[in-house]
Amino acid sequence: MSRRFDVLVVGSGAAGLTAALNLAGQRQVAVIAKGALGEGATGWAQGGIAAVLEEGDSFESHVEDTMTAGAGLNDRAVVEHVVGAAPAAIARLKELGVPFAEEGGALHLTREGGHSHRRIVHVADATGWAVQQALEGAAAAHPNIELVPDMVAIDLVTGRHAERFSTGGAVHGLYAYNRRSRRVETLTARATVLATGGAGRTYLYSTAPRGATGDGIAMAWRAGCRVSNMEMMQFHPTCLHNLQVKNFLITEAVRGEGGQLKLPGGVRDGGERFMARFDERGELASRDIVARAIDHEIKRLGLDYVHLDISHRDPDFVRTHFPNIYDKLLGLGIDITREPIPVVPAQHYTCGGVCVDLQGRTDAPGLYAAGEVTESGLHGANRLASNSLLECLVFGEAAAKDILARSDELPAVPAVREWDESRVTNSDEEVVIAQTWGEIRRFMWNYVGIVRTTKRLERAKRRVDTLRQEVAEYYQHFRVTPDLIELRNLVEVADLIIRSALARQESRGLHYTLDYPGQLAEARDTVLVP
Ligand code: FAD
Ligand code: SIN
Repeated sequence: MSRRFDVLVVGSGAAGLTAALNLAGQRQVAVIAKGALGEGATGWAQGGIAAVLEEGDSFESHVEDTMTAGAGLNDRAVVEHVVGAAPAAIARLKELGVPFAEEGGALHLTREGGHSHRRIVHVADATGWAVQQALEGAAAAHPNIELVPDMVAIDLVTGRHAERFSTGGAVHGLYAYNRRSRRVETLTARATVLATGGAGRTYLYSTAPRGATGDGIAMAWRAGCRVSNMEMMQFHPTCLHNLQVKNFLITEAVRGEGGQLKLPGGVRDGGERFMARFDERGELASRDIVARAIDHEIKRLGLDYVHLDISHRDPDFVRTHFPNIYDKLLGLGIDITREPIPVVPAQHYTCGGVCVDLQGRTDAPGLYAAGEVTESGLHGANRLASNSLLECLVFGEAAAKDILARSDELPAVPAVREWDESRVTNSDEEVVIAQTWGEIRRFMWNYVGIVRTTKRLERAKRRVDTLRQEVAEYYQHFRVTPDLIELRNLVEVADLIIRSALARQESRGLHYTLDYPGQLAEARDTVLVP
């Protein structure tokens, strides 16, 4: 089956829906999502969105905080552009009905690590859910937007899939597996926007949703686009440690509102607030520093977790500001107004990704990308808290505007071959997929985690080489399923992360290696070319 649209958007999170809403006035847009529309990371965001909105704060300060967190690897022009666009982006969300918290008639601004000022707008501690609902509602109401859940993109359509083979490098849409019909469809368009989110599920412990398997990064790479800074994998310092609930985030805003990191009782120095030993900003140091400090203390003392304690604050304040976390943890037997929260670091955000310019253009004509799937130059070696939703909003809009402005230059869609299943059969051993997936996530956690060494990275590289080959053979012989599609991408992205980590012979931002503890004089992106 084959369908044609003006523009195809892959992903229904903040980046994809923003792009769609900005296109829909003039184009017919299809937004596909591989599961339900609200299943991406956007709906899970807790803390909020960073923007300069208060007297006493300044764009310069937001820019400097972003550059400091990014350890000099950010592109200053991009940072200035995004920070400058933030207030307007927040105003548009308000127009769409996002009920940002207010105090005394003004927006309530909270604070997070690495920010030198209160500048995070939020909807209590469930900001992402409110943003997702508002964007989804507006998209669903627009006659020019078709929302297509349960459609898993497999690969981008390029000249080599055309009836008349060509090697121009342009992208004309994609092949996607329809979970409902269990058939592969060909969706074509003159412009395709990748907004597929991150690759957190390459790691055993991650705060990211199940679908964060790096599909867009792998698809763009296979279509010939450069990716960069894949070694810059962000670990959030405070993920709940709980045997039943593995990936529940405790927002950084808890530390922003006074939460203290302490060693648990019953060990040497139990109860000690330890962050001051690592950074003068204490609990409000940037994420890479806090995550490494916790990892260090856990390993030094043989702990399972450390404590995050907000119980010294007024219980009503805690319940009002963190209702989601309060309820969730109460359900698990922890009353955060009276007792500390056991926390561990976990993978959280993919700073690297598909290389894009300020308009969201990738290397392939007709292919755009926005949001966590990209490396835009904003985050550098470490994303500053609450700058990600902002990036989605700014780049989603920029990509849409460029598509509208350059419609004459977008590649024409050729006749495209349908997906060929004549040489494959149903899988005889589905267990291979779960087994390989588990192996990847475990060695990535153990060998390509918060603290790295060349020996560990080389070990990981040997394993990923073997698994890539096995997955490629499996993919050649068997019919695609959503799990196989994701596994193929996961192994590809794991390889890109390891190669990038091996290439960076210094410690900068999120990439910390015992073999190269110092920093090179010049900050350089790790750019991989297909
Ligand atoms: P997502 O929202 O992740 O959406 C990805 C979309 O792509 C989904 O619709 C998915 O179905 C679709 N997709 C993926 N692969 C395919 C495929 N093969 N075929 C079809 N569709 C596909 N950032 C902040 O700025 N502030 C915060 O407070 C904050 N809190 C966070 C809390 C948590 C727990 C997490 C995990 C992240 C948080 N982040 C936060 C980061 C931020 O939420 C994400 O970076 C951002 O939402 C990513 O948005 P996106 O539109 O790029 O992708
Ligand atoms: C958080 O609420 O701690 C997450 C914020 C972010 O990822 O930017």
